[in-house]
Amino acid sequence: MSRFPDNFLWGGATSAAQIEGGRCSDGKGLCHLDYVYYRGPKIPCNFMLKRDYERAKAEEATLNFPNRRGIDFYHHYKEDIALLAEMGFKVFRMSISWTRLFPTGLEETPDPKGVEFYHNVFRELHKYGIEPLVTMIHYELPIVFVEKYDGWASPEVIPHCVRYLKFLIDEYKDEVTYWLTFNEINMVTAVPWLGGGILLDRYDDFEIPKGFRPFGVLPEDMAKRWDNASHQALHHQFIASAMVVKYAHETAPQCKMGNMFNLHHLYPETPSPEDAYRAHEESEYNMFFCDVMAKGYYPKWMLSYYRKHHIDIQWYEGYEEILKEGTIDFISLSYYLSSVVTADPARQERIGNFMRMLHNPYIETSDFGWQVDPTALRISLNDLRDRFNLPIFIAENGLGAFESLGEDKTVHDDYRIAYLRRHIEALADAIEDGVDVFGYTMWGCIDLVSCSLVSMSKRYGFVYVDADDEGNGTYNRYKKDSFTWYKKVIATNGEDLD
Ligand code: BG6
Repeated sequence: MSRFPDNFLWGGATSAAQIEGGRCSDGKGLCHLDYVYYRGPKIPCNFMLKRDYERAKAEEATLNFPNRRGIDFYHHYKEDIALLAEMGFKVFRMSISWTRLFPTGLEETPDPKGVEFYHNVFRELHKYGIEPLVTMIHYELPIVFVEKYDGWASPEVIPHCVRYLKFLIDEYKDEVTYWLTFNEINMVTAVPWLGGGILLDRYDDFEIPKGFRPFGVLPEDMAKRWDNASHQALHHQFIASAMVVKYAHETAPQCKMGNMFNLHHLYPETPSPEDAYRAHEESEYNMFFCDVMAKGYYPKWMLSYYRKHHIDIQWYEGYEEILKEGTIDFISLSYYLSSVVTADPARQERIGNFMRMLHNPYIETSDFGWQVDPTALRISLNDLRDRFNLPIFIAENGLGAFESLGEDKTVHDDYRIAYLRRHIEALADAIEDGVDVFGYTMWGCIDLVSCSLVSMSKRYGFVYVDADDEGNGTYNRYKKDSFTWYKKVIATNGEDLD
């Protein structure tokens, strides 16, 4: 008998910036991710400094901007949704592009062509009985807020964003039940450009050292600007999120509102109390993003963390009330890897997309250095249950790999099947432990542009898309071996994972 509940939502996840393409089609405006340019198949580029942004603008005609192409879902959505339906998807996680509805972000009313596009997508999903789960903001900020303001660090973004968020509820509330406000809200403090459109060296004239690595030890003035701007941006995102959650509860009570954060489980490097405390501190920091959104207030320890680290927040007027009135209905998270921490700051290194932790010799790593650890998912889910007692949705989990289409027009991705099998087993264990998990969307169910590398070379999908990093290819879709495997997993409600 399956250990998953009968109505468990099986599916896959994507984001508008990484799949839609059609960047300038039908009046769509540009967002900050449209300015991230490709630098090589393994070079992370989602950390932009002023010089990178200036270059993107100056060489706009010649640089390679893969997010502007995506996988051309804008024109392929019917074919793509038919493939998801063939796998038996119950849910499809997607995001709406703010600048397809409000091209500059400043308009009072949305562009009707953009509005219609999403109605068409939702109609197509419902035709197959697939529930859309919509991320309102998945790393997209209209470029005007980078040009004229300090990204999300400026409070000026809030009213424009809230107008967009409320519009989504008003317009689509009868087609969409499940909403996530901000994708991986904790990423704004880890990667301020990606999560908040903040160019760290924009206003301060500190020197960025040669050979600078974003996750090495930072020069003091830069670290200060990073901490202040990114936590200020986070505060503004909490406010916008709480405002729309409250609005949805009042005007569309059938809608379920969730947060979304990147979960990383942390082990101390040694049993030394110092390492153990460091791991505890990092875990508390990771959970704090949920604390504010689920409990409706900043925990005391976080306020003391701000004091200790000299982080000065300009508190939004009436923020305590706003946060209290806008608490979420469920928790959602992405989970890819676990990490090891040490109390010795000089020995921190970068693993995975954004973290600065140490290697764990007890677990294997993916081609991209991500530490594969399903047990940590089970442990963290149990922790989340104890801390919040809310339903949980796994919004992202998956394996990125270099792949190419074989002569038999498929990809034999047994490594992906193995990865997913182990994580789904861990999920079943957590459910048996008493955790209320109601859905699972595998990340990048159809190949898409990688977020950290802005490349097509790193692939996650059950479906292969014939497009390369430069945008060459037919854009035809091909089923990988994992396609048939996942179809069986869904058909048996997670019972048959072989
Ligand atoms: C998550 C993001 O952090 O990780 C996605 O929400 C992203 O947008 C995913 O694509 C995987 O990261 P990457 O860099 O391999 O695409």
